[in-house]
Amino acid sequence: MPHVRHPARIRTFHPRRGRLSDRHLDALERLWPAYGLEVPAAGTGGPPDLAALFGRRAPLVLEIGSGMGDATAEMAAGDPDRDYLAVEVHTPGIAHLLTLIDGYGLANVRVARGDALDLVTVLPPASLDAVHVFFPDPWPKTRHHKRRLIQPAHAGLIGSRLAPGGTLHCATDWADYAEAARAALDAEPLLVNAFDGYAPRPAHRPLTKFELRGVDAGRAVFDLVFRRVAGTAATTGADLP
Ligand SMILES: C[S@@+](CC[C@H](N)C(=O)[O-])C[C@H]1O[C@@H](n2cnc3c(N)ncnc32)[C@H](O)[C@@H]1O
Repeated sequence: MPHVRHPARIRTFHPRRGRLSDRHLDALERLWPAYGLEVPAAGTGGPPDLAALFGRRAPLVLEIGSGMGDATAEMAAGDPDRDYLAVEVHTPGIAHLLTLIDGYGLANVRVARGDALDLVTVLPPASLDAVHVFFPDPWPKTRHHKRRLIQPAHAGLIGSRLAPGGTLHCATDWADYAEAARAALDAEPLLVNAFDGYAPRPAHRPLTKFELRGVDAGRAVFDLVFRRVAGTAATTGADLP
């Protein structure tokens, strides 16, 4: 088969290095084989076997950019009838979530390592009950807005992976990102705003370090909840920037 070159995608994350603590190294060694999923690089793999990954079939929540995983673990612990797949590129955060899964004995959480956009691309259309994007990297400089996760180029892809009635829940403490995200999601025919504008802060969304940092800096927090409507999901991800 001829080798197909995929142009490098614009990354929505900051490349970060950091030494892994012994505790995190231990978590990765012990727990990754049971709870981890490697995201195939763009164009190199098919959809993951979700039933095998979770050992059951249940409505699936995808959390994009789970950071240290505290919100994922807390929400999943209170929602045992749904499965939670957290996707993150930051290895210490992945390792920390593994320790939480182990510590709380969570049967409904798995962790994917890699670019969420590569993962979403290979997930089957209409396979998700919800997508959570909490405090995505804000990329505040105008020349970096193209790196934002919630933007017109990604709205159709993410929307297409939601099942009809499924929800996309985003939260940010950057007002201009909130406005741009709202406009991008409003313009996506597969999605409809579940509220008249911004959503009230839901009690079930745990407070994270990033939210606290924004609140401490005097910034307001904006929640957006969009619902997937029935319709044709044509996006393959091949047209992503
Ligand atoms: C500002 S942090 C917020 C973390 C967490 N949601 C919270 O509220 O504490 C954003 C996270 O998204 C991750 N991220 C950004 N783009 C990503 C992508 N395309 N795939 C996977 N993770 C991504 C970053 O590595 C970072 O950990």
